[in-house]
Amino acid sequence: MRSFYLPGFGKPSTYKLGALPKPTVSQPDHILIKVYAASLNPIDMRYAEGTMKLMMPTQEFPSKLGYDTSGVIEDLGEAAKTDGWKVGDEVFVRLPHEHRGSLSEYALTTTYYIARKPANISHVEAASLPLVSMTAYQAMGRFEGGREALQGKTVLVTAGMGGAGSIGVQLMKAFGAKEVITTISGSKIPRAKELFGNVVDRYIDYKTEDPAKAIEPRSLDFILDTAGGTIYPLFHLLKEQHRFVSIAAIPSGSDMKNMMPDTPWYVSFALNMNSRWKITGPASKENIIYEYHRLSPNGADLSAVAKLVEAGQVKAVVGDVFDFDEAGCIKAAELVQGNGSPKGGKVVIKIAE
Ligand SMILES: NC(=O)c1ccc[n+]([C@@H]2O[C@H](COP(=O)([O-])OP(=O)(O)OC[C@H]3O[C@@H](n4cnc5c(N)ncnc54)[C@H](OP(=O)(O)O)[C@@H]3O)[C@@H](O)[C@H]2O)c1
Repeated sequence: MRSFYLPGFGKPSTYKLGALPKPTVSQPDHILIKVYAASLNPIDMRYAEGTMKLMMPTQEFPSKLGYDTSGVIEDLGEAAKTDGWKVGDEVFVRLPHEHRGSLSEYALTTTYYIARKPANISHVEAASLPLVSMTAYQAMGRFEGGREALQGKTVLVTAGMGGAGSIGVQLMKAFGAKEVITTISGSKIPRAKELFGNVVDRYIDYKTEDPAKAIEPRSLDFILDTAGGTIYPLFHLLKEQHRFVSIAAIPSGSDMKNMMPDTPWYVSFALNMNSRWKITGPASKENIIYEYHRLSPNGADLSAVAKLVEAGQVKAVVGDVFDFDEAGCIKAAELVQGNGSPKGGKVVIKIAE
């Protein structure tokens, strides 16, 4: 099958589109998907560039690229059939790490990860959703009392036109937040207004206005950070003992070790120092609760998001779409890596018509 892969760690210009073995169903819970569309995420690029190689010493090459996919079931194991899946079902999924490779004609997963594609959206739209929507959905589940307790609350979601932020703002409104504030670079605000309508109550152009000064101190019930960078200046915006959940900040050494057990001790030590100095120390000084959230992909949470999509409460936010040829895949990878001017929302590759 045709697949976009890394011959070794390196820049997108070194990645190749070529023939790799088609995966096959060999376990009862396996599901083989004929891929119609796939999307890329910043994490794909961090693996590909080798940023995480100290933490992942056993990486093998060629290594297929991509976690997010939407397609149709082509083959499946007996247990998957018993679970109600069948050939021809339209599905979307964030592939597990061991089966990554969504920029391929076929992708393998297991029943644990898969969900039915929302019937009212295309494969291109569906492929944009799994990783970012589940991450935002799960991070919001850390709000004191759970997502339902967001009813009537005032929240900030940073980076509202990013992959995760664009779904985060919609999920906040879907769960009843009264005021949703977001930070977006000014040039993207007109498109955001068109897309979001009355989902977002206040836009802050973070390039010209400092959100740490623009928002009233101690006025927020919850912050979902999808921008990362220097986050402690935002801590005083939260009410005391309220929660700041980041998916984008640099994790502590302990968080990193939980995610990647091979993390060397000296990396873990340095990350813990950074976290204490720049995050948890300032958080405790401001008397707020800070948590880092890492995605735990699963079909149940993805199905919950799919229901909100079918109900019209969450829309996929697709930015740039590329064809499945080497030039298109390289361009997509470069955009996600931060080179070029992405439209905002997700970068998607159309694999099949
Ligand atoms: N922990 C996890 O499991 C997990 C899961 C998913 C993503 N992530 C991480 O979360 C981050 C966002 O992911 P993504 O997929 O949403 O990325 P993305 O689609 O590339 O979006 C990133 C956005 O960040 C915005 N941005 C950059 N600096 C900003 C700032 N200072 N203030 C406000 N916005 C800023 C940019 O907005 P403008 O274009 O408006 O400037 C861009 O739209 C990445 O670091 C990713 O690795 C982590």
